[in-house]
Amino acid sequence: MNLAARPISTIKAEFPGLAGDWHYLDTAATAQKPQVVIDATVAALGRDYATVHRGVYARSAEMTLAFEAARRKVAQFIGGREDEVVFTRGATEAINLVAQTWGLTNLKAGDRILLSVLEHHSNIVPWQLLAERTGVAIDVCPLTVDGRIDLDAAEAMLTPAHKLVALAHVSNVLGSVLDAGRAVRLAHDVGAKILLDGCQAVPRLPVDVAALGCDFYAFSAHKLYGPTGIGVLWARAEILAAMPPWQGGGSMIDRVTFERTTFAPPPQRFEAGTPAIVEAIGLGAAVDYVSAIGLPAIHAHETGLVGTLRDALRRMNDVTLFGPEDSAGIVSFTMEGVHPHDLGTILDEEGVAIRAGHHCAQPLMDHLGVSATARASFGLYSDEGDIAALLRGIDRTRRIFG
Ligand SMILES: Cc1ncc(COP(=O)(O)O)c(C=O)c1O
Repeated sequence: MNLAARPISTIKAEFPGLAGDWHYLDTAATAQKPQVVIDATVAALGRDYATVHRGVYARSAEMTLAFEAARRKVAQFIGGREDEVVFTRGATEAINLVAQTWGLTNLKAGDRILLSVLEHHSNIVPWQLLAERTGVAIDVCPLTVDGRIDLDAAEAMLTPAHKLVALAHVSNVLGSVLDAGRAVRLAHDVGAKILLDGCQAVPRLPVDVAALGCDFYAFSAHKLYGPTGIGVLWARAEILAAMPPWQGGGSMIDRVTFERTTFAPPPQRFEAGTPAIVEAIGLGAAVDYVSAIGLPAIHAHETGLVGTLRDALRRMNDVTLFGPEDSAGIVSFTMEGVHPHDLGTILDEEGVAIRAGHHCAQPLMDHLGVSATARASFGLYSDEGDIAALLRGIDRTRRIFG
């Protein structure tokens, strides 16, 4: 099996976390890291280490260049401008930032937010916290029978009272891909802003925020083969420029006196304190790595694996499959008479790592009528051997449970 004309076995060998006879099918939770990302991180933490933006010495100036180069790489990677890329701790913090700055400034009682049934808790709870403080109402867009966000329903639900639409670009449970272009048009038609939670999309599909025309885009580096502790909020420059700061401290100011403090322009205005320097450089290396392979190839590779796995699971009459056929890299299912946690435990004994649980999407579990699902999720390093190991583990589980 090849990816971008390279054997998957060669690609797998670039990921030390995949060494041994281990089948990692939990990339939607967090991706394994290629050696180049680890090396970049080690060098940034060791040989090249210094603070950024402040030092008058050469090492710090070089580190600042490397840190800002990482921001530039991210901007190019998602089709945005460098000054539109805010480094956060992750997607969760990015969404909370929007809720607490843009949301608190622009939303008031009587306004409405549209979410969907399949959102991750990170794209639900920040809006609930905002609703408690502002009196904003939250509406929930239903799903189609095959588990996509139902944009026909969204169109019927949206009114001029809606000031924000916040949707997952790719579902972390079902793998369903949003028709993001249409979602943007629907939101803008009623004068609402749109935030896309791109956590599962950015590692799996080419994303171009300018072409999409969205207002906010959030993702985490650790799902994109980069380090934990860093993520991205992209927002259109004019929106960011009008947003008040969130956290106060060093780096985000222009001039501080006890009488009055003025703030730095974006993105620094939203990056109080010493940033995640090492992690940003790791993210830059991850962007380079993924870009060299190419997201169209990664997407085709993962959807091929999804097709193979779904075909095999569909032939098992004790398995219920969720989500659409063309899911991006993620397959959720349940097995009759076997709790997903038991399945996950038996698979672990077989050297297969899947996720079992509610996947931080409890409203979606309620909608599906289950308390948990088993989820196999692929990465660019996954192959048919991983699927075969999973299927062997499912057969063994069936024998154990009779
Ligand atoms: C769709 C989606 N949104 C948001 C998040 C939250 O990401 P993080 O925990 O890295 O902030 C995740 C992570 O599982 C996710 O899959």
